[in-house]
Amino acid sequence: MKILVVGGGGREHALIWKLSQSNKIEQIFCAPGNAGITSLATCVPIDADDIERLVEFARNENIDLTIVGPEDPLAAGIVDAFEAAELKIFGPNRAAAEIEGSKTFCKNLLKKYEIPTGDSASFDNLDDAIEYVYKKGAPIVVKADGLAAGKGVVVAQTVEEAEDAINKIMRRRAYGDAGKKIIIEEFLEGEEASFLVFTDGDIVVPMVTSQDHKPVFDDDKGPNTGGMGAYSPAPVISEGLFRRIMNDIMIPTVKAMAAEGCKYRGILYAGLMIKDGIPKVLEFNARFGDPETQPILMRLKSDLLPILEACISGHLAKTIVEWDERPTVCVAMASGGYPGEYENGQIISGLNLAGRLKDVMVFHAGTAKNEDDKVITNGGRVLGVTAIGDDIPQAINKAYHAVSKISWEGAHFRNDIGRKALKRI
Ligand code: AMP
Ligand code: GLY
Repeated sequence: MKILVVGGGGREHALIWKLSQSNKIEQIFCAPGNAGITSLATCVPIDADDIERLVEFARNENIDLTIVGPEDPLAAGIVDAFEAAELKIFGPNRAAAEIEGSKTFCKNLLKKYEIPTGDSASFDNLDDAIEYVYKKGAPIVVKADGLAAGKGVVVAQTVEEAEDAINKIMRRRAYGDAGKKIIIEEFLEGEEASFLVFTDGDIVVPMVTSQDHKPVFDDDKGPNTGGMGAYSPAPVISEGLFRRIMNDIMIPTVKAMAAEGCKYRGILYAGLMIKDGIPKVLEFNARFGDPETQPILMRLKSDLLPILEACISGHLAKTIVEWDERPTVCVAMASGGYPGEYENGQIISGLNLAGRLKDVMVFHAGTAKNEDDKVITNGGRVLGVTAIGDDIPQAINKAYHAVSKISWEGAHFRNDIGRKALKRI
């Protein structure tokens, strides 16, 4: 088979690494890819959002299956466009991807079907939103309704801060049309976890649990990022809680989507807040998480391809999905200045040394090659150094040992990835 993966981050490198182990696949293409992906796939310089050119490419190359990494093309209807061209593609269609593309759509669905989540209200009028914030008080959470690359969320400690956020999102349109509508949510306390499932629209097959680390600095300090690291499993999700999440959240949500006439096929990813053993939905994503995919796929023992195909064909009930018991840890290495301004083009050293270590995978995110074929930084999050171990402490040690081999000017990373899990074992 010929496969096309759309995207070019650490998540896509992990997907391609896993798919490249399938004996059913002859060739993998990636649009646009990154420097690490070039060793496993043919990278083609087409942007992940350029749906028209991606359809044309898939048609010309006789691609058998296209797999979409990021949310933007899903929300823009890449699946609908491929299906209209009779090309096979993995992911939810535009209507189903609304679950991530509109936070109001998601909250309305959760409320209607009584799936546990915090209180919220949506506004398309600025003054009403501000009035609501003053009525409710702080802390309170202000979000742009649409996609804002994970940036359109402000956890406001004071009502003034919330008002500033409303002005920034709605009046000044800091995130463009994503801020046409705004959603204001009850602040939920607790510990976060990521819960991802495969679904064919009917059957729901859970992946192993994981936990992201959004703030840039140790101890969850500093501004939020795309994710500074992740580990799997997340011990905050006990066996009982796992069943409860499946029965009260994941299965009802997939059923609700079907009942609403937008059958959901693909990966459904719940961002959960857990307090006193009770899970509530913070948000849904319509795709694999980044960086969660890196530690999750390192634990997948089964071939990924038949699972993805079964999600499309509706045969997930008959598909075997086996996981490695051993935990994994992924440490993101980022460019100096990230998540603020940063410079691309720093030469990365130590990649070969780290890549040769046992039980370690260095997944590339923002990397490229310069004229001398040297790997350079080309984005905020640059690498996801991922390791598997017999237990969490060993996986942490292996990942940080590999990190210690890699350097470039300004590189930074969190030193405490996995520490929350240690507290629970
Ligand atoms: P989201 O993109 O909606 O997941 O929000 C990004 C981050 O903001 C989450 O990972 C949480 O850390 C935080 N957050 C979002 N919504 C809430 C909420 N209702 N209560 C507390 N924290 C939240
Ligand atoms: N890890 C956060 C995300 O993929 O949205």
